[in-house]
Amino acid sequence: MAIEVSASILSADFGKIAQALDVCERSGVGRIHVDVMDGHFVPNITIGPVVAEAVCRYTRLPVAAHLMIEHPWDYLDAFMDAGVDAVGVHAECYGERRAACRVYGQYPKEIDMVDAGKLTADLRKIRARGKQACVAVNPGTPVECLQDIMDGMDAVLVMSVQPGFSGQKFIPGALAKIAWLRRRGFKGDIAVDGGVNAATAPGIISAGANVLVTASYFFGSPDPAGVVAALQQID
Ligand code: DX5
Ligand code: ZN
Repeated sequence: MAIEVSASILSADFGKIAQALDVCERSGVGRIHVDVMDGHFVPNITIGPVVAEAVCRYTRLPVAAHLMIEHPWDYLDAFMDAGVDAVGVHAECYGERRAACRVYGQYPKEIDMVDAGKLTADLRKIRARGKQACVAVNPGTPVECLQDIMDGMDAVLVMSVQPGFSGQKFIPGALAKIAWLRRRGFKGDIAVDGGVNAATAPGIISAGANVLVTASYFFGSPDPAGVVAALQQID
């Protein structure tokens, strides 16, 4: 599978988003990744539909919204109306939370089992509007919870850091999750999000992922086009 590099604008200069998008286009990025955080599902607040709409208007690249928010179903239409091409919801919003993270302010949010009916219904709503339906899983949530909804997902976003911030260290447990998905015959996109760089990418790709999401490695580099080229050359 061809490797796609997806640039997370979380590490871009928010005062110069249009220029950052331009850098992405000129550097061979395949897709823009918009990290949406609500201060409840994760301990940070970032971008809402208003800014997502501006991002979509200023770039020709496909845009994916990674919704790190509680009650994502309340905002699916808002982000799709904003023009995004892919919507990712967290599995942890569709199951009973583990005791350690059940209360407000306890992170990371984790589950053991997913409500397949509820999650599939939301994925159908995303697909019904012609968008890519993606499910994100936190590092502590077992990927096996997705086994009954494989056909309903276009993509899986395997989190390789605790969601909330860019610039964190890669958590290697993501690799076994990627391999499990491919072993189970998942044919859609497998994106890895968090701590992607030249050192971690070879393992991610050999495990079976085809989309590399990067914020700090890409935007922190003096040669972003070189970053994309290097990541795409790994085999
Ligand atoms: C984390 C976000 C990631 C993050 C990646 O909550 O979902 O997309 O921006 O940042 P890096 O690439 O710096 O680990
Ligand atoms: Zn993300």
